[in-house]
Amino acid sequence: CRVRHYKFHVVAKNYTRLCSSKSIVTINGKFPGPTLYAREDDTVLVKVVNQVNHNVTIHWHGVRQLRTGWSDGPAYITQCPILPGQTYIYNFTLTGQRGTLLWHAHVNWLRSTVHGALVILPKRGVPYPFPKPDDELVVILGEWWISDTEAVINEALKSGLAPNVSDAHTINGHPGSVANCSIQDAYNLPVDSGKTYLLRIINAALNEELFFKIAGHKLTVVEVDATYVKPFKIDTIVIAPGQTTNVLLSADQKSGKYLVAASPFNDAPVTVDNLTATATLHYTGTLANSPTILTNPPPKNATQIANKFANSLKALNSKQYPANVPQTIDHSLFFTIGLGINPCPSCKAGNGSRAVAAINNVTFVMPTTALLQAHYFNIKGVFTTDFPSKPSHVYNYTGSPSNLNTTSGTKVYRLPYNATVQVVLQDTGVIAPESHPVHLHGFNFFVVGKGIGNYNATTDQSNFNLVDPVERNTIAVPTGGWVAIRFRADNPGVWFLHCHFEVHTTWGLKMAFLVDNGKGPNESLIPPPKDLPKC
Ligand code: C2O
Repeated sequence: CRVRHYKFHVVAKNYTRLCSSKSIVTINGKFPGPTLYAREDDTVLVKVVNQVNHNVTIHWHGVRQLRTGWSDGPAYITQCPILPGQTYIYNFTLTGQRGTLLWHAHVNWLRSTVHGALVILPKRGVPYPFPKPDDELVVILGEWWISDTEAVINEALKSGLAPNVSDAHTINGHPGSVANCSIQDAYNLPVDSGKTYLLRIINAALNEELFFKIAGHKLTVVEVDATYVKPFKIDTIVIAPGQTTNVLLSADQKSGKYLVAASPFNDAPVTVDNLTATATLHYTGTLANSPTILTNPPPKNATQIANKFANSLKALNSKQYPANVPQTIDHSLFFTIGLGINPCPSCKAGNGSRAVAAINNVTFVMPTTALLQAHYFNIKGVFTTDFPSKPSHVYNYTGSPSNLNTTSGTKVYRLPYNATVQVVLQDTGVIAPESHPVHLHGFNFFVVGKGIGNYNATTDQSNFNLVDPVERNTIAVPTGGWVAIRFRADNPGVWFLHCHFEVHTTWGLKMAFLVDNGKGPNESLIPPPKDLPKC
């Protein structure tokens, strides 16, 4: 294995989209940012030089960070931000991981423009467990705001109201045919007839789950969140923010241009951006002015299409890549996730109240000292370890509201090293039920069960898949339903769990696990690096 060095200069640059220009924060002037390439078991060193007037951190979404929590990246959880003018070197090893992941800024809403792909190839000489593609393409889905995204969230926090939705979705940085002035710049995926391509699809959007499809072509899904799955063919995939999906695309037409569409999936009664981003699959030799073969994106509330995709996902579970699902559970947790409304005397627009979000009725309060430092150096008063293992009261979670107010605190849930954990994530209908893509740092987890309505421990648990459930790092909890996940706490440190809709994270839909050191020589957090930013 190699050591790979990368340099990330955080710089502002002007970009024009949807007929207007603005200055955005980028890495090395690129939007989307540069793709990082490495191989399984390589060590990656990324020197981040902050040359903008914003605090910055970078998160390597889905990288396990075994014992290296200092390089995980979420601001005030594992590190304090890299201040303007400062530098920090992220240093981590891709132990036993291969596939597509993403990296993104993890402070405020900066990830709207600061994100990119992390491609981890298998070890040299180790083939993919599927037919070798002729070529590979990275496809990053995103969102674009005409105004400054940080301003959008600051405005929302002041007023207590929901922030504005984005003005467009994007495919590799371009909205496509949504506006006349952006058609020319739509992204082109060039393909040769007869070849097979591995598309590494990433949802880097802030607040939207997306459907993705290509006219006239089926997709063979082979991997999600950098874990191999049993291959299956499908028309439309659905992908939540933070998730990645690798598909094989065989360019089995002779020639032509085919529409590539990314459109929102949201089956809850909330306002979403209803715009479809488009790109073109362009066979070599096809004239530029020949007509594009179109396809209709699914309606935004096409729950069956989303379910068809989600229910098809199974771990590959081969001899070489076994699914090591924990069969017995040491810590069984039940987390209600959802929104609430709390008093806010200063919120004029919200009539003295504001939207909040919570897990088990606790709205997480961001500390001003990073939790990992507080834990390592034993700094008192930063967090408490009383995060509840279940909500304070039982009610009809998916029915009408029973308690709008939440409590608040910086609470973590403590796990002994190597404990096995089950978390049932139950969506609630306190304001309205809504799908939440929940992301856990530091671990992959197995999605052992999923259902609609209220979770029932006696009947639902007997239907869990403990053989080949899909393994991921981000899971969309269905609107008005639940999912059950299992993982082994074999990574000491402090690990963030949160909704990957940035608006819900901002409102408090987040908590952290604190995993103790183990007794063995390789079971403890490494000491903090010398250049770790100070608070
Ligand atoms: Cu990709 Cu904590 O997030």
